[in-house]
Amino acid sequence: MAQFWKPGTEKPRLLDDEEGGVLFLSSSLSSSASGYGYASFEKQRQRLPVYKYRTAILYLVESHATTIVVGETGSGKTTQIPQYLKEAGWADGGRVIACTQPRRLAVQAVASRVAEEMGVKLGEEVGYTIRFEDISNPDVTRIKFLTDGVLLREMMDDPLLTKYSVIMVDEAHERSISTDILLGLLKKIQKRRPELRLIISSATIEAKSISNFFQSSKRRRVAEDEELRSRLEPAILSVEGRGFNVQIHYMEDPVQDYVQAAVSTVLLIHDQEPAGDILVFLTGQDDIDVAIKLLTEEARSNGKNSSGMIILPLYSGLSHAEQDLVFSPTPKGKRKVVISTNIAETSLTLEGIVYVVDSGFSKQRFYNPISDIENLVVAPISKASARQRAGRAGRVRPGKCYRLYTEEYFVNEMSVQGIPEIQRSNLVSCVIQLKALGIDNILGFDWPASPSPESMIRALEVLYSLGVLDDDAKLTSPVGFQVAEIPLEPMISKMILASNELGCSEEIITIAAVLSIQSIWFSGWGAQKELDEAKLRFAAAEGDHVTFLNIYKGFLQSGKSSKWCHKNFINYHAMKKVMETREQLKRIALRLGIVLKSCERDMQLVRKAVTAGFFANACRLEAFSHGGMYKTIRGSQEVYIHPSSVLFRVNPKCVIYHSLVSTDRQYMRNVISMDPSWLTEVAPNFYQQQQQQQQLRNPIIH
Ligand code: CDP
Ligand code: MG
Repeated sequence: MAQFWKPGTEKPRLLDDEEGGVLFLSSSLSSSASGYGYASFEKQRQRLPVYKYRTAILYLVESHATTIVVGETGSGKTTQIPQYLKEAGWADGGRVIACTQPRRLAVQAVASRVAEEMGVKLGEEVGYTIRFEDISNPDVTRIKFLTDGVLLREMMDDPLLTKYSVIMVDEAHERSISTDILLGLLKKIQKRRPELRLIISSATIEAKSISNFFQSSKRRRVAEDEELRSRLEPAILSVEGRGFNVQIHYMEDPVQDYVQAAVSTVLLIHDQEPAGDILVFLTGQDDIDVAIKLLTEEARSNGKNSSGMIILPLYSGLSHAEQDLVFSPTPKGKRKVVISTNIAETSLTLEGIVYVVDSGFSKQRFYNPISDIENLVVAPISKASARQRAGRAGRVRPGKCYRLYTEEYFVNEMSVQGIPEIQRSNLVSCVIQLKALGIDNILGFDWPASPSPESMIRALEVLYSLGVLDDDAKLTSPVGFQVAEIPLEPMISKMILASNELGCSEEIITIAAVLSIQSIWFSGWGAQKELDEAKLRFAAAEGDHVTFLNIYKGFLQSGKSSKWCHKNFINYHAMKKVMETREQLKRIALRLGIVLKSCERDMQLVRKAVTAGFFANACRLEAFSHGGMYKTIRGSQEVYIHPSSVLFRVNPKCVIYHSLVSTDRQYMRNVISMDPSWLTEVAPNFYQQQQQQQQLRNPIIH
């Protein structure tokens, strides 16, 4: 390879064997890159590593309340275990087998795969549910894939989840916030429903801490009866993987720009290495889109040898057709290059990958309860993640992993494990969900990993100010129940409820639908000027939320045309998703007694409704330096308007933001101007004091 690559001095190894040890594997794996076209599904199923453990798994599930299954990605946990359970009768008598995933895209992909293997139509015997998309039928669905968040929501109607006989909490090693809440609640449910079976599956050995969690000392004391005790004790089963050896390469020196480095590495592999697909790990839609454009252009200018690449993105929010391309076999003579978020780390298995390019980063949520700021940060991954990523290269034959960082960095600086999301998130949504389920003592809840008391107190404070919780921190008011009922973050739900009173629910529901999508703009890389011009065509002086309304109107007027979207740099798929989500929200709103009403041109009402939900994100312009420096009114944190906002450089005196992203600074995404006097109106408890102090300190505004 090129000069900057240095082969790892650690022995090439597979995953998860903490310090050394190589798993060299004798037999070839389940299928070759193109194998699926030839073998019957039944044969393929039998070749998966998990197949050997079928009887053991069924026995453990029968005899233990909780079974923990650890097995490498691709060994068949997600697609096979629910089928084994069904074959063994766990779905008889109208019962349902549930399998949860932290990611929506994974839910869709595995559900359609399992339906295909079983030869049934998706949505019938095998179905799935993600937020705003229910492809299941309560009468006939027996295996149901769903996000862990959706299962939590189902508990609001059916607190003991009575229709499920087995619940498989998959990808537990990811420790998503909803997985952790779910584990805590399922432990409670088990006490009331001894017949319920849990399977917790994980790609890493982290199983031990989860096992300890399910095996509290109290349980051991209570269960004197030998048989009962053994049933309550979690069983752990390790599925031995059959991956191939992966050779690791490191950078000689740290890279400045991981996107550019990833692109150069792909070109090098394509140029110098034999056939085999490439999987690149970047962090999100934005850098993936940039990488794809760069790669396409550089490949074109490189000439002859680059033509054989099929370059595909993989991130949540892709259309079904785009997903299918990623999973379909690579045509002969071609090389697939999949550029992915960390969804391909363990949630999805891609066949045919021989080379992995690991940027060393992923997008992660971080929350600071002191400043009350949560943002999405491109942050270094852990060693555990790096090993998982490398392992993706060893599925069909020995592979190579190119780490875009140095070996010294890997050895000395990378953390061993990631931090559970619950310990780095704003807990507003989490607290309201627990409250809605009647769990009032949040601090005393049995968490797999406790969140910080500061974060909980902050969340309680916000929920109190939103009018969701009463003086005793209980969910008693109609507003509280309504906010809990809407499957959106509480601030958005509150904004929708406020719009009902203000008479602008039509507009606010559109805004809520757009905010639930990552971005409705087409990636502007390489065409920034044209994108900016397109934005100007819709830009509203009030800010991004009102701009969304203009776009939505334009889209409707165009007859929902994809051409119109293309011309205006708007993502057609995203707009279609907005329409779908909007329909769902309308249905929910009507159920809650919200009257759909338009405020026509009175955008002040829209701004007020946004403020009623997002008052905690209010900021004031402090200085014109660096293109406009704002401070959060409550916590005096320095923030800036993101360049993608229509208010960038417009700098209204006071704004509300929807979310923050952090790069060199904290940037506000989706910003709307507001009048600070509304704050004391909509959230008097939250603001009165700070408002007075701030007014004294702020010469620009007053
Ligand atoms: O859950 P785990 O990582 O253990 O494996 P799995 O997702 O059940 O995958 C088992 C096999 O099914 C792998 O060979 C995958 O490539 C295949 N699969 C697929 O071809 N298409 C999907 N949408 C999902 C899985
Ligand atoms: Mg899986």
